[in-house]
Amino acid sequence: MRIYQSEDYQGMSRRAASIIAAQIINKPDCVLGLATGSTPIGAYQQLIEMYKAGDLSFAEVKSVNLDEYKGLSPKNDQSYRYFMQHNLFDHVNINVANTNVPQGEAADADAECARYDRLIDDLGGVDLQLLGMGLNGHIGFNEPCASFATGTHVVDLTESTIAANSRFFSSMNDVPRQALTMGNKNIMDAKQILIMVSGEAKADIVCKAFSGPVCPEVPASILQLHKNVILVGDRAALCKLLETGAALCK
Ligand code: F6R
Repeated sequence: MRIYQSEDYQGMSRRAASIIAAQIINKPDCVLGLATGSTPIGAYQQLIEMYKAGDLSFAEVKSVNLDEYKGLSPKNDQSYRYFMQHNLFDHVNINVANTNVPQGEAADADAECARYDRLIDDLGGVDLQLLGMGLNGHIGFNEPCASFATGTHVVDLTESTIAANSRFFSSMNDVPRQALTMGNKNIMDAKQILIMVSGEAKADIVCKAFSGPVCPEVPASILQLHKNVILVGDRAALCKLLETGAALCK
């Protein structure tokens, strides 16, 4: 794992955006695995700036998002499809037909998960997978559990994730209790992974995930087994991991 530390959220976002831009420049028709949540918003803004400046084109890029709340329509402003349109897709020249988010409203969620796995395969797999990390170590919506789940599946969200995500809804009761998420196999099959972490609140779980044992109780720990992971974080999120002696890239 290569670890890059930036001073703050802005620096972390610039670094992440540069890595994503490099991927697009190297392979204009690449498949990006995208994430939602508060962490990648700054990187998406940087990418929009690069596009507006004429330095980056998304014309041939394809994307697959990690996850979607079960039951939410794409028009719901809390859905992850809405998030992606609002925070990236509507502001760059990506072909919306080339963007994919699991369909939260699908009548048969298990069939939708199987379709999503086939779609990823048909696209030739993910070139660069972006990830954030939940306070409990989840990646996508792969919550701490007894065994690592594999392909795209329906998951019950934990109380800690429902509480953390309630900040985006008018009340806790409005937060969906289930989601469709890529599984650990989908994530681990990506050719390269870029995980972004920011803020003091993540320091303990970042340390546990990347210096502790690989176990499904800390889902992000599986990334220790991937050959090509880049961790970008700000000083606050990385401080405890660095105390364990983890080496930083310059
Ligand atoms: C979002 C996702 C989640 C988030 C995680 C961190 O698509 O898959 O795993 O990355 O919950 O969320 P933030 O960035 O809001 O702390």
